Order: sequence, then structure tokens, then C-alpha cells
Amino acid sequence: MTLQPSLTLGAPPQIGPRSHDAFRRARQIFPDGTTRITIERDPIPRYISHGRGAYLFDTDGCKFLDLNANFTTLIHGHAFAPVIAALEQQLRDGTCFANPTEKEIELAALICGRVEAMERIRFCNTGTEAVMFAIKAARAFTGRPGIAKIEGSYHGAYDWVEVSQASTPANWGSAGEPNAIPNYKGMPTSVLSEVVPLRFNDPQGAVHQIRRYAWLLAAIIIDPMPSRAGLISPDPAFIAALQAVAREQNVLIISDEVLSFRQSFKGAAARYGLEPDLYALGKIIGGGLPIGAVAGRAAVMEMFDADGRKPAVPQGGTFSANPMSMSAGLIAMQHLDQPAFARLEQLGDRLRARLAQAIERWQIAFSITGTASLFRIHPKRRAPRDFRDAFWSASEAFVMKELTRFFAAAGIILPNAATACLSTPMGEAEIDLIAQVFEQFLSDRAQRLEWSPT
Ligand SMILES: Cc1ncc(COP(=O)(O)O)c(C=O)c1O
Repeated sequence: MTLQPSLTLGAPPQIGPRSHDAFRRARQIFPDGTTRITIERDPIPRYISHGRGAYLFDTDGCKFLDLNANFTTLIHGHAFAPVIAALEQQLRDGTCFANPTEKEIELAALICGRVEAMERIRFCNTGTEAVMFAIKAARAFTGRPGIAKIEGSYHGAYDWVEVSQASTPANWGSAGEPNAIPNYKGMPTSVLSEVVPLRFNDPQGAVHQIRRYAWLLAAIIIDPMPSRAGLISPDPAFIAALQAVAREQNVLIISDEVLSFRQSFKGAAARYGLEPDLYALGKIIGGGLPIGAVAGRAAVMEMFDADGRKPAVPQGGTFSANPMSMSAGLIAMQHLDQPAFARLEQLGDRLRARLAQAIERWQIAFSITGTASLFRIHPKRRAPRDFRDAFWSASEAFVMKELTRFFAAAGIILPNAATACLSTPMGEAEIDLIAQVFEQFLSDRAQRLEWSPT
């Protein structure tokens, strides 16, 4: 794909008449016009007709390289042929039953076979549920109600993890003792009193707060590379400190890998030396269908074990472990073998290096974070080290909007305030395209700033 010479900074994206018509109808029926707060709009959402591999097509026939992949879910891209075949078979065999199927055992065995600490697993339908059930199990196991979480990190829509998900400089409080900030109007203050926010990559602060509130805490929940909080690599000293203080205070560690399980064959915790008691999973393990899973040490997972009695934590759901999600997840994960991870990692390394080289050449205030198939572009000269560092000023938000628009005009969906990802149908051509478009954005911007490359 060649770049259009007519691309101009700040041009609003071309969104065709069918999307406009759909959004007009949607506004009459959905509050705010959509059914997910996370849908990006500039100025309206782009309606999609279909996806193929790394690309998707809007209802007006425009084609885009998809770096969102439904918020990093579609690691094999759209309409992955083996998933289609598995689902066609499962459709004919039945979509859901009130009885278990053997498919759930196969997917469970595959996942637990990769990660030693996943001795037992339970399926649910979303990452939110996985996080919720992991927290409930930790509460039942420890007899304590509270959690510690990383300021700014996203773990879905369970009240306790929503605390301080969207703190701002106006309310986040001191560096050492971040405030617990409600995420919606009417959030019970009792919830706020049961959550201890920690700053990412601040070992001293975290240890201090965990020791101080150990009496309250069932678990520390952490996404080892929290995407919303900046997709920032954890310092080994931070991980080691969390691990040590959790052990010292008998507080469990929940690794939320709903998004970051795609960081390696064994997930994210293994990559950073974290030894969780529980994991929350979702996204890629469903092969593009709704899924969640809570997994972990057998002694903690026993909280879900009824053995003829009432379990400590009842866990169920009408569609939990439905055979459609199990079939799609099983085949998708079977194709996600060690060579597939190695290839994605190489592509990601190459892309991040090329983006960083372009920044170096043009000396414009951007930086790149991420690992494996994940990356984020920050409007910051120095890569951020935590959520507060990564937080955008109004002028930085403007620059990022320009960047997203520029990419859209060049036929690439780059998430604006979320993590971008690569998928297995991508290759060198896609890496070249992303790097070229970014380089051209920097070059245009440099011209506007009357800057010349070094
Ligand atoms: C780290 C993390 N945890 C939990 C969730 C919630 O998952 P779901 O949207 O499937 O409920 C997400 C979703 O993006 C996530 O990124």
C-alpha cells in the first residue's frame, strides 16, 4: 500500500455515509450511541462490515490494517480458517448445553499444560468475571475482603478493581499513598475503603502500603505490564518486592493476564519472574469468542470445590464453558505454539525498533513501550515508568489524536488511548507500512515545527 501524498495533519478521518446513517439510528436506541464505552469515535464510530486476516473493512468499503484486533483478542486476526471450521462443526453439534462437554477439558489441559502454577482452572465468559472470581477466591482463602491494585490499571468492571482506574492529577493524591478514587457516580464508599492503590514500579511505596494494610488485604492484583496504565515494563526490583511482601504478609498475588497472556507461550508472569497464586485470563484463549478463566494453585482454587457441600465460592454462569467458545479457543490456542510466539515476538521487536529509530531521526517527543506483540506510542520524550508519567496533558492528547487520524487516513486502525497489537497474519509488509506511516507523520510534524532530521 502506498502512502497518499495528500495526507495532511489534523484532517478528520473519512467516515462514509453508511456509518453516519448507522450512528444516527444507534443514537436513538443506545445511551451515547454505542453499547461499549471503549468504542473509539472521531467524531463518530466507524461501522464494520467484515474482517479478513489482519484487515477489516468498514460498511462503506474502506480497508484498514487492524492494530486493535478487538482490544488485542484476535491474535490470529479476523476469520481465522481453523476457527471457522471448528465453529461450523460445533454449530451443527449444538451451541450450549446444561451439561459439560469434553471440549472444556481439552482447552483446560492445553492452558494448564503451559503454566505450572495453573494447577486448576474454571471457565467463565469475560475477563471481568475472571477477575471477580479470582478476587472472591482470594477472599475466601484468606478471610480478608480488600485488594491492592495498580493505580490507573484496567481490570474490567468489578467495583473493587474499578477503583483508581481513571485517577487524574487533580485527585490522585500523594506519590507514596495514592488516593482511592471512585470510577462511577454512586460507587459505595465501602468499596473505596477496601482498595489500596499502589504505584507501578515503586517498590518502596508498594511494600509500605502492603505492610500497612495487610490486615485488610486478600490479594494484590496486577497485570505485569498494565496496558491502560501505559504498557510499561515492570522493573525486576518492583516485581521482586511485591512478591516478597505478599509472601511475608500472606497476601495472595493475582496476575491479571486477560490481555497480557499473549506475551509469551507461558504468559506474562513467567516472563517477569512473578509467581502468582491465581491468574485471570480472557481474550486470546477464546479464539475470538467470549471467554474468561480463573486459574491457579490447587489449594486456592479449592475455594470453588463443592465436593458434595456448598463451595466456599459458588461460580457458574449460563454460558460458562459453552462449547462454541471452547472449540474456538482450543483450535486458536493449538495454533499459538512456540514458533508462532517466536515469530510474533520478532515482528514486534522489529516494529518497536523501527518506530524508535524514526523518533531518534526526527527528534520529536515520542517514545515506544511494549513487548512481544504489543506496543504503545507515547507523546513523551522519555518512555513513562508509571501511570502518572504516562498521563497525557491536553496538548499531548491533541498530538495523539492527530497521530490516530493520520494513521486512519493511511488505512491503519491505531488505537488512540489503548494498546496496539500485531497478529499472526501480519508480516514484513505490515511492519513496513506501520513504520512508514509513522515516519511520514513525524516528517510532516517536523515540517510544521520547522524541524529537520538529525
Ligand atoms: C487486564 C484486563 N483485565 C480485565 C479485562 C476485562 O475483560 P472483559 O472485557 O472480557 O470483561 C480487560 C479488558 O480489556 C483487561 O485488559
